[in-house]
Amino acid sequence: ALQASIVPKISPKTSFRNQFQPRASTFKVAILGAAGGIGQPLALLVKMSPLVSALHLYDIANVKGVAADLSHCNTPSQVLDFTGQLELANCLKGVDVVVIPAGVPRKPGMTRDDLFNVNANIVKTLVEAVADNCPDAFILIISNPVNSTVPIAAEVLKQKGVYNPKKLFGVTTLDVVRANTFVAQRKNLRLIDVDVPVVGGHAGITILPLLSKTRPLVTFSQGEVEELTVRIQNAGTEVVEAKAGAGSATLSMAYAAARFLESSLRALDGDGDVYECSYVQSDLTELPFFASRVKLGRKGVEAIISADLEGLTEYESQMLEALKPELKASIEKGVAFVQKKQ
Ligand code: NAD
Ligand code: LMR
Repeated sequence: ALQASIVPKISPKTSFRNQFQPRASTFKVAILGAAGGIGQPLALLVKMSPLVSALHLYDIANVKGVAADLSHCNTPSQVLDFTGQLELANCLKGVDVVVIPAGVPRKPGMTRDDLFNVNANIVKTLVEAVADNCPDAFILIISNPVNSTVPIAAEVLKQKGVYNPKKLFGVTTLDVVRANTFVAQRKNLRLIDVDVPVVGGHAGITILPLLSKTRPLVTFSQGEVEELTVRIQNAGTEVVEAKAGAGSATLSMAYAAARFLESSLRALDGDGDVYECSYVQSDLTELPFFASRVKLGRKGVEAIISADLEGLTEYESQMLEALKPELKASIEKGVAFVQKKQ
């Protein structure tokens, strides 16, 4: 979907102008943390979407230049910049979707949970402003540890009396993107055909690719399942180590976030056939938040798809049970963080 709609196909016969015919509806999108490693390439991809009329870029510094640069692209959306807490409210007013990649990334040797102390406060402050200024917007959380920052966002929204669980999403699309890539490579499949649901959460063993549910139907040896599962679970660390202190995944993350955002906009636009994996409030398991495939619609999550959790292999069932204590602890840590501050 992303390839079809965001990335323009440029051939000698097509020009950018032809790619961007006006659509029936267009939407306002805000990126909080827009000057960062994810924020900048994400802003570029969003600037290319025909479904976006306004792109609001917010950061605590360096966002003016990013916005000036981006605003010269001759695509329809208007780019506006907002710097610092005093301009946050104006950034958020009238926005349909807010994407939050603000916060510090990992360095080698760190877990995502090691980011909690800094990023929990950042997410809390930003979501408070979202609650005050655009409580109806879809909220897409990228900042780590996602397993805790989404519960933090939910608690903040509850305290403000505007929590709508259907509109709060932890972005786990990168796990799906990675699973699709690694499976296609391993099995020599066409990338475009491969779809692997990834459930659970977004850290280490809480990332559970359901390889038995891969489409198209593929058979894996147990050795392949274990090797692919571990590679998908450690893919973030693979990038952190390769970047050797300069941060974590930014480009693949921007690609993944742009895909999830485009799906959200298509859902808002009335497309009745939009499915993505996401970490959301869920009753699929005993855990209050859980990533799975969800159907997206105008009002947010329209349905949580339970079918993927039916008929799991023994290995997948064991991995599912094994992830629950860690995911539960991360959720509780997020909830306690907001409740303690009351
Ligand atoms: P980065 O340091 O390059 O950029 C972060 C940006 O956030 C900076 O521009 C910074 O100024 C800004 N920022 C800090 N405090 C802010 C505040 N209070 N308000 C607004 N902006 C603020 O980091 P990055 O590589 O872009 O990563 C950002 C976050 O995304 C990290 O927490 C990282 O772990 C996470 N991440 C998540 C996924 C995922 O799959 N969900 C993937 C990759 C990275
Ligand atoms: C990822 O999966 O790449 C992100 O969560 C960043 C990280 O710290 O690994």
